[in-house]
Amino acid sequence: MVVLHTTYVWLAALSNVALVTSRLVGIPVVPFTASGDGVYSVTSLKALVVDSKFAESRDETGETLIPPSLQDFAKTFAADLSSTLGLDLSVSNGNGASPDSIYLTLGDPSKYVDVAGAQTAEGYTLSVNSSGIVISGASPLGVWWGTRTVLQQAVLSDSSLPYGEGDDAPGWRNRGMMLDGARHYYPPEFIIELCSYMSFFKQNIFQLHLSDNLYNNVNLYSRERSLQLGAWFRLWSDSEDLAGLAKNKNESYTKDQFEEMQSACVSRGVTIIPEIEAPGHSLAIVQWKPELALSTDLSQLNITYPDTIPTMKTIWSTFLPWFQSKTVHIGADEYTGDPNEYNRFVNEMSGYIYQESGKAIRIWGTFPPKPEYDNVDRNVSIQHWEFFEDDPYHDYILNNYSVLNSDDTFYTVNKWSGSYPQVVNVARTFNGDPATGGIWQPHVFDTHVAANNPERSNAFVLGAVTPLWNDYGANATVYSEAYYAWKDGIPALGDKQWGGDLSSAEFAPAFSALLPFAPGQNLDRAIPSAGSTVFEYSSDSAVTREHFAALGSWTDAAVADRSGNGYDAATDCPLTPESTLSISPSCTFETPLSSKGRDYTLSLKLKVDEASMDAVLLSGGDSSLMLTPNLSLFASGNYYRLNSTIPVGQWVHLSLVGRGNQTFASVQETSLDEPLPEVGSTAATEEEFLAILGVNGQSFVWAPIAVEAPIKQLGGADSGWTGELAAMRLSSEA
Ligand SMILES: *[C@@H]1O[C@H](CO)[C@@H](O)[C@H](O)[C@H]1NC(C)=O
Ligand SMILES: *[C@@H]1O[C@H](CO)[C@@H](O)[C@H](O)[C@H]1NC(C)=O
Ligand SMILES: *[C@@H]1O[C@H](CO)[C@@H](O)[C@H](O)[C@H]1NC(C)=O
Ligand SMILES: *[C@@H]1O[C@H](CO)[C@@H](O)[C@H](O)[C@H]1NC(C)=O
Ligand SMILES: *[C@@H]1O[C@H](CO)[C@@H](O)[C@H](O)[C@H]1NC(C)=O
Ligand SMILES: *[C@@H]1O[C@H](CO)[C@@H](O)[C@H](O)[C@H]1NC(C)=O
Ligand SMILES: *[C@@H]1O[C@H](CO)[C@@H](O)[C@H](O)[C@H]1NC(C)=O
Ligand SMILES: *[C@@H]1O[C@H](CO)[C@@H](O)[C@H](O)[C@H]1NC(C)=O
Ligand SMILES: *[C@@H]1O[C@H](CO)[C@@H](O)[C@H](O)[C@H]1NC(C)=O
Repeated sequence: MVVLHTTYVWLAALSNVALVTSRLVGIPVVPFTASGDGVYSVTSLKALVVDSKFAESRDETGETLIPPSLQDFAKTFAADLSSTLGLDLSVSNGNGASPDSIYLTLGDPSKYVDVAGAQTAEGYTLSVNSSGIVISGASPLGVWWGTRTVLQQAVLSDSSLPYGEGDDAPGWRNRGMMLDGARHYYPPEFIIELCSYMSFFKQNIFQLHLSDNLYNNVNLYSRERSLQLGAWFRLWSDSEDLAGLAKNKNESYTKDQFEEMQSACVSRGVTIIPEIEAPGHSLAIVQWKPELALSTDLSQLNITYPDTIPTMKTIWSTFLPWFQSKTVHIGADEYTGDPNEYNRFVNEMSGYIYQESGKAIRIWGTFPPKPEYDNVDRNVSIQHWEFFEDDPYHDYILNNYSVLNSDDTFYTVNKWSGSYPQVVNVARTFNGDPATGGIWQPHVFDTHVAANNPERSNAFVLGAVTPLWNDYGANATVYSEAYYAWKDGIPALGDKQWGGDLSSAEFAPAFSALLPFAPGQNLDRAIPSAGSTVFEYSSDSAVTREHFAALGSWTDAAVADRSGNGYDAATDCPLTPESTLSISPSCTFETPLSSKGRDYTLSLKLKVDEASMDAVLLSGGDSSLMLTPNLSLFASGNYYRLNSTIPVGQWVHLSLVGRGNQTFASVQETSLDEPLPEVGSTAATEEEFLAILGVNGQSFVWAPIAVEAPIKQLGGADSGWTGELAAMRLSSEA
């Protein structure tokens, strides 16, 4: 009797071909031919065996200069099997598969080709039979993508993989996302979590835009005002030559941090491509060296000014040794100066960067080649973003330039925009090919006019990278809002960038099943919980009183979590005669948790007796709740303030609510005897935390802000207040 699990789908045979092609639904989809005589349960697995011949092999052909070995990938995979499936396998080296093992090895690399027929090191073969699973890669990176398939299929098919075999390889070499880390800083840990998330869906490129400024329309401002507009350069060097270029060290990447991000991302197959913008979008450089500016637009560099190119060379020579990618991006978009000067700039930087580091450069499609120009060299790759700047097929590809597809079809601008959406247009991935009305893939630059797109097999298409821009700067969003803008987009694009053809109907259930299992990250700041109450502490609980009584002192006591989840808090704060905790800077109350993402209701029964300016009521990994003296959230380096505050010396019920992409708080006077109100009870008036965005310097818009709940600590040296805590509860309902 043959049992086919539910995610196994037969495709209709092509009418003239006798072959039956088949695939496994996954993100991306996986070519696979089931033998039809059984399934293998990953719960039977006992070992993870790495072919000793190849344990130290590395793929030297990819974008990264620091490729992990097969052994390195195997260790990460073993950790993922444990964290996602609860499978703790022994990892060993061997000369073949042992019974009930996953065997990782390398095979014939010539078997795997991309859409253009070129060999790709990212291919792999997945074989499943009653003895276990074999992943044989064109390289260790190919094996890595095979491990993503195994994890996904185990999740999607209730642990059972069908017996059979499939060869899988990506259609394109560059598959990923671009984050504007210039107009909004993102901490290294956040970038690393995003890489993990992308990697689960087989994306391999993370372009990090590292310098830029607010407002394209700098013409609105006086010279003086322009020199004060938001502009950032996010790499921090101690070199004297660059003193003053980067602004705040706490919002820039040091060499160690950059190295940490690159190695963590590449440990999951994702290469960071750094981008330093010039000669446009260069206000950060102009604020540092005003003499380099074009007199007509201070955000752009005057290339003919004698010190401009030498300055850019100094910047690049400082940072090239940091970068572990074979390609670096010099920006070069939206320049309004002379095209010939622009082309000279690009070619000179290309030559310089190659001579210094052996690296190739990439630019945004800007002044496409023309007979009357001395054009950009063909070994500079082009990142197309908009047809008003270039026609990628006719201008570049037909002239033998390689082009990366970043058409603004899939652009997002964080929080607000006059022209672009705030979340990736996922629907367009399913219907964006104008030739068929169906599946979009990287060779489709123009989603309206088929004649503007090359053949799918065109070798000049490098792949696709989808950008997110922070046009409204740092205070428009908290870090995680970049993730929410991409949450559905990364998997939807990941399938298509690989060459997959998942339909919308296949994608939705697969994505919701896979999402909770994406390893190496917790961008949702989810907390495992049996019910909707995540924790509940109450110092009037009998458990606590007995605990304190038994200890006979107030030090290092545990405050029992009454939710049943066992998230007991630790405190050295003294208990008052009323069995409340006396909170002050000289003691702490600490939960084992740090932050809770959407959705949540955090309720506290609290009394503030004294508070300094900028008192921190509650702190967590992503935010702090403060009294400034207005009730405020501090998150991602910015303050979001309400008009309300907390009355001194009065018991209040304070509630902080994260509801979808909005955040609210309410303060209601209460007495010690009153219990915390039920979640969702409407007695108190909520006030919403809002971001104010300056739109082109002319108007302002108020927009919601989605801040994670701070749930790590009350009290402590930097807290700045004294008072009492009687109860604290976190619910996942809002
Ligand atoms: C399963 O596949 C492995 C590797 O190809 C092979 O060594 C083994 O004999 C196969 N087992 C069965 C029962 O076919
Ligand atoms: C650019 O610099 C050159 C050389 O210093 C100068 O002659 C020219 O006026 C500048 N152009 C602009 C537009 O700033
Ligand atoms: C790129 O092309 C130009 C023009 O053909 C050539 O001078 C330069 O050496 C090439 N650079 C590299 C890195 O191959
Ligand atoms: C592009 O390259 C092909 C193959 O090398 C060559 O035949 C053709 O002339 C080139 N086209 C242009 C516009 O340079
Ligand atoms: C916030 O969520 C609402 C409701 O889901 C949605 O309509 C809106 O577009 C979201 N806003 C942003 C900026 O994502
Ligand atoms: C970095 O420091 C600046 C200046 O002290 C401060 O305004 C900003 O909030 C800090 N950023 C973060 C992310 O903490
Ligand atoms: C605070 O009050 C001002 C003035 O009434 C109002 O414009 C603003 O929206 C309020 N702020 C919040 C966060 O509700
Ligand atoms: C603090 O709240 C008061 C109203 O209580 C409001 O007038 C003031 O603008 C708020 N301060 C800030 C910085 O939002
Ligand atoms: C956010 O930044 C803009 C400048 O981009 C500034 O005008 C605005 O006041 C800031 N808003 C807050 C809430 O800090």
